[in-house]
Amino acid sequence: MKKSHRIIGLVTVAALAALVTLGAVEYDWFPTLVSPSSEKIDSLYKWLLVASVPFFVIIVAAIAFMLIEFRAKGEQDDRDGVPIHGSTLLEVVWTTIPTVIVVALGFYAWGVLNDVEAKQRNELTVRVIGQQFLWTFEYLDENDEVVAKSNDLVVPAGRPLHFLIEARDVVHSFYVPNARLKRDATPGVVKSLRFRPTKLGAYPIVCAELCGIGHATMRSTMFVVKRPAFAKWLKDGGGVYTMTEAKGGDKAAGGTGGGDAAAGKTVFTSNCGSCHKLADAGTAGAVGPALDGIGKESEATLLEMIAEPDKDVAKGYSKGIMPPTFGDSIPKEDLDALVAYLQQAAK
Ligand code: CUA
Repeated sequence: MKKSHRIIGLVTVAALAALVTLGAVEYDWFPTLVSPSSEKIDSLYKWLLVASVPFFVIIVAAIAFMLIEFRAKGEQDDRDGVPIHGSTLLEVVWTTIPTVIVVALGFYAWGVLNDVEAKQRNELTVRVIGQQFLWTFEYLDENDEVVAKSNDLVVPAGRPLHFLIEARDVVHSFYVPNARLKRDATPGVVKSLRFRPTKLGAYPIVCAELCGIGHATMRSTMFVVKRPAFAKWLKDGGGVYTMTEAKGGDKAAGGTGGGDAAAGKTVFTSNCGSCHKLADAGTAGAVGPALDGIGKESEATLLEMIAEPDKDVAKGYSKGIMPPTFGDSIPKEDLDALVAYLQQAAK
């Protein structure tokens, strides 16, 4: 190969590497950032791209060049290449450069992790419980007493959050893409996660660990709301949150009927819809039986079906699929609303 060709080749590859890296850094890979404390994570990702994309381009270019340059020239070409035995300079270079890059990125990531995990003042503590196939959030006061419960994560804008993550059955993973944070929920262990959401809105929460047949449907929503709205919601003991309307009115206490059917529809779609089909709610889950018409049952029967699913399993379905914990994990007023909704939907 002529020297001039070699120089043109090297310059082209270098330019290509620079261009692709620039594109990768400029491209918007992530959803809206909800927490400024997670900005450092985005920066870390950009530096990881800067460190890895050029190598990718250079290596792919080298492979392409060798495939073409050193291919067999015709049917009769069975020559071997010239044997080469070591090159100290090359070996020192290709050991030193990656080592420096990896160690530097390691220290950088360590620093980011320390910042993200640092305890903040005035934290709101929320216990996150993962179970097949839903998330439950319990809000704790200073004495670690549960003051509110919900299946959606409702949080006040601007306040630092401290999550205590647990699992009831198998390993799940609590993932909030808009905060760039993810942590496994493991039975028997309490793990912690921190961020401070500032941007009002509704954001997805997903389970990022294959946890069973309903894994893909194990989703929830994080509502970042204004402080007064949050305070009111918390005072009411949590439960279903609707973005557009504030919850109001007196609620019947404790699994005794008289629930709000409109609120019950939301309870249904967020807790049951992923596994059960119900035309009225527009859900199409097929893990459990379809529930159209189930509301013809009495209030007491419906509550029992929810709380003790294995007592009487529908034909063609197995025991042990539906968690036996809904009677406990869904707040009482939500259970009433759910039952009222099922009855209304069957009319
Ligand atoms: Cu829980 Cu996947």
